[in-house]
Amino acid sequence: MSIMDRKIVMSGIRPTGYLHLGNYFGAMRNYVKMQNEYECYYMVADLHSLTTHPDTKELRANVHRVLAENIACGLDPEKAAFFCQSHIPEISELYLYLNMLAYKGELEKTTTFKDKVRQHPENVNAGLLTYPVLMSADILIHRASFVPVGKDQEQHLEMARNFAQRFNFRYGNVFPEPQAFNFGETLLKVPSLDGSGKMSKSENQMATLYLADDDDMIRKKVMKTKTDNGPTEHNSIKPDYIENIFLLMNLVSNADVINKFEIDFNQCSIRYGDMKKQLAEDMVRFIAPIRQKATDIMNDEKYLQNVMEQGAEKGRKSAVATLQLVKESMGLKYY
Ligand code: TYM
Repeated sequence: MSIMDRKIVMSGIRPTGYLHLGNYFGAMRNYVKMQNEYECYYMVADLHSLTTHPDTKELRANVHRVLAENIACGLDPEKAAFFCQSHIPEISELYLYLNMLAYKGELEKTTTFKDKVRQHPENVNAGLLTYPVLMSADILIHRASFVPVGKDQEQHLEMARNFAQRFNFRYGNVFPEPQAFNFGETLLKVPSLDGSGKMSKSENQMATLYLADDDDMIRKKVMKTKTDNGPTEHNSIKPDYIENIFLLMNLVSNADVINKFEIDFNQCSIRYGDMKKQLAEDMVRFIAPIRQKATDIMNDEKYLQNVMEQGAEKGRKSAVATLQLVKESMGLKYY
């Protein structure tokens, strides 16, 4: 495959708090795997965070954290373009054009919009309503084909395809239709430790494992997860909170260990205390090196500035080229 037909990949993370295992397994793990094979654009979605977090006191630190934690997880800014959304003004211009192709009705029906309206009825702003349009601009500005994301972003990707199609139909073929991506598998949703939803940057923090949690905090959170007295019949169906513990183990433990607990469960000899201890230690082993690396990177502000500058330069090159095509196709060229 020549460089010319390398497929383009784009994804983003909002800087609204500490990154967690859901972000890692839903998205960041794929960023790292894809950077060797594809032309990749990864972004800190700082503009998106303003739709729900108008107070910007923590923004700078959060942007630095998202950069550092991704790099600590293996994202290589030399291989991928890694930048901040607000450093690429072309995204905002494309967002404006796409807004003319997005309808109020479909935006109001978006699940994430409805959730946010319920959570924050006092701040239902136009940016929140058009969130999927801005996200589509992020993706389409690089004419990306693949978007590594978790399950919660599936509907946004469907909308991005609709906007791309509408644009292409009206003004000419500029955009590929982007697909949500997770290496040969369905999209992931990493559940919260209490099984009541998904791990999240800003909600239910005691049920979320953060990449910045220290060893004792990880142990404390894992040991608190809900279990029961164990199954009483061989080969029974697992209750969902037990299924969750197995699912989390599948992410970080080795196959022999998981297999042993599966057999114990099926034979009604499982000891959930031991299982949780094992899971806690495997989580510590997984998270500790990332946390340590991220702390070092975060303390090196000069390096982070370099990453952002270099990323913006690469990102803008691709964005400027797309925007020129967009404007020509739309007839926004008068001399
Ligand atoms: P955000 O910042 O909420 O999450 C970043 C990525 O992590 C994934 N994720 C999860 N995956 C599995 N299980 C979980 N519990 C879990 N929690 C989060 C998300 O699916 C996402 O991939 N709108 C996006 C940010 C964005 C974007 C983009 C993404 C802005 N522009 C362009 C892709 C392309 C968001 O809020 O992600």
